[in-house]
Amino acid sequence: MATDFSPSYVARAAKNLHWKLRLALRFAPWIKRWRLLRLRFGSRRVHTGVAIPKLTENLEAGSAHFKEDKWAFMENIFPADFYRELLVNWPKKRYLEPPREVAKSYNTGFGWIHDYSTTSDFSNCDPRGEYPILLSLLNYLRSSEISSRVTAFAGTQEPLVLYSFILTDAGTGAEVVPHKDSSKDDPRAKYLLNFIFFIDATGGKNTGALTLSRDNELTDIMFEAPRLQNTCLAYDILGDFYHGFPPIAPGKWRWVITAQFCQKSYVEKTA
Ligand SMILES: [Fe+2]
Repeated sequence: MATDFSPSYVARAAKNLHWKLRLALRFAPWIKRWRLLRLRFGSRRVHTGVAIPKLTENLEAGSAHFKEDKWAFMENIFPADFYRELLVNWPKKRYLEPPREVAKSYNTGFGWIHDYSTTSDFSNCDPRGEYPILLSLLNYLRSSEISSRVTAFAGTQEPLVLYSFILTDAGTGAEVVPHKDSSKDDPRAKYLLNFIFFIDATGGKNTGALTLSRDNELTDIMFEAPRLQNTCLAYDILGDFYHGFPPIAPGKWRWVITAQFCQKSYVEKTA
């Protein structure tokens, strides 16, 4: 959940919504029905791949910056072979939930939240298992290997584990209204990190580059992701800054996978 919005920014966002997105929000339940229909009767194609999911050593290279500034931007975060397979295996829209709110107006899917299971999968959104690469990435990110590497990356006192995973697909007019995550107000939260994996985007201005800002109107910008192909922006959710991006320009788009990590005791207490 998001919090600490600027009311005037929210009002402007609602007023200036691109007409295509306004229509999409209005007809979201119908879009969902149409997608379910296509999912049910559409052709089946299992996207196979051979590349092993992996985060490159650029994760470790970003650690010092993260420890210093509570955020880090890392390039070539996946090895080239795995990245290429992610690109060709990006799911079609019918596997995703259509946008439903102005504040986060993108398609979402392949969501997972910590459930103590190492075998839970995406059968709810990908009933025929057509995108095994996304499941293999989830399994990798919830592995003890990644838990150790992310803990070392952040330099935390307690081990970190994967808390959530979600894929987002944003198009014309989509935006994230600048906000902080409400989990920052949870007294049990000691360490919460967001890893935004930029998979692909059209590029240029207003293409969905997540931006960190000291204010909730994106005027006092700390950092704007400059490249959105095989890069990663990691930031501390408990840090004193906001995140969001302005509306995506007509005809542009971006693909992202977000993984959130938290201290192990946090999920033990929330179970
Ligand atoms: Fe957020």
